[in-house]
Amino acid sequence: GKGNYRHFMEKELHEHPAVIGDTLRQYLDPGTHAVRLPRLPFDPAVVPRLTLSACGSAFLAAHVGRYWIEQLARIPCDADVASELRYRDPPLAPGGGAILVSQSGETADTMAALRLLKEGGQRVLSIVNVPESTMARLSDAALLTVAGPEIGVASTKAFTAQLSVLACLALGFARSRGTIEVAEEERLTQALLSIPGHAAAVLEQDDRIKALAAEIMAARDVLFLGRGSMFPIAMEGALKLKEISYIHAEGYAAGEMKHGPIALIDPAVPVIALCPSGPLFEKTASNLQEAAARGGRIMAFTDATGAPALSRFAEQVITLPGIDPFAAPILHSIPVQLLAYHVAALKGTDVDQPRNLAKSVTVE
Ligand code: F6R
Repeated sequence: GKGNYRHFMEKELHEHPAVIGDTLRQYLDPGTHAVRLPRLPFDPAVVPRLTLSACGSAFLAAHVGRYWIEQLARIPCDADVASELRYRDPPLAPGGGAILVSQSGETADTMAALRLLKEGGQRVLSIVNVPESTMARLSDAALLTVAGPEIGVASTKAFTAQLSVLACLALGFARSRGTIEVAEEERLTQALLSIPGHAAAVLEQDDRIKALAAEIMAARDVLFLGRGSMFPIAMEGALKLKEISYIHAEGYAAGEMKHGPIALIDPAVPVIALCPSGPLFEKTASNLQEAAARGGRIMAFTDATGAPALSRFAEQVITLPGIDPFAAPILHSIPVQLLAYHVAALKGTDVDQPRNLAKSVTVE
């Protein structure tokens, strides 16, 4: 049941800390906290290329995974939505590997991508939430997210669980390839392990996020911006908002603003910015300042380090716990999903069963 929650989605949002912790513990050694991966269908030390593919939110998790794996393990990666990959029929590297991501393990397009990749000689690893699913069975190996059943049609806890597995993979691959120092691996592992506690603190800011939802619920369009590994999270925020509140939203790479979307900026189009401190902070902040100078209402998610600079021009600054930039995409997923939830709940839409959508998309 839903317990004391109004919707399954709300209940599932509040399961983020437990699910992230449970999933991380599957892939991190409890004693040493080092990454401990099961046998993989490809050898990360020598694999020449990886193809990541999935649909919807699962694709956005894969997209973050691409940033992580490229950055930490220096493995060339492609990430594409399964419905495109299957018909683009790209040339595949001999000896290449593939990573498919799916909550249900039954999504038709992702299954088609799996077949294409296998026929193309790729060794396929899947990240799935349903152990007995078709995808888990037909992959060369499956890593499980430990999210438990997800009832709300909009993916929430399964998404952060997928990110948790991908983060462990990136660290494990980096170790295999010798692209990470032991001390750095330990530091990043600690950052991952700090997420459940920080996630609980984010959920305690529920009222603040609900107030933000009230600010944007009347908007016709909302723009979500992020850079680097926060760009897919901007797209996740936009996807969730479209899906359950029926407000048109776009997730954009902050640096692409001046190549078109900045023309949309006016006080009627709220800009939700994902701008944690880190190497990309200054660049993102300057894109946001440009939008503010054109009348944009900036609502920024950041941390205590980033807050003072953003407060100079942003209408709202929501301060999340500070965390290493590596782990920030997982933590920032939570407030954007929570924001979409509150907008939908305030609008009174059918949060758990949004119109025209099914939990498991088993047709093309
Ligand atoms: C978005 C959402 C969908 C799914 C997508 C893939 O909130 O839930 O975009 O992520 O349909 O589903 P799975 O992960 O079951 O393959």
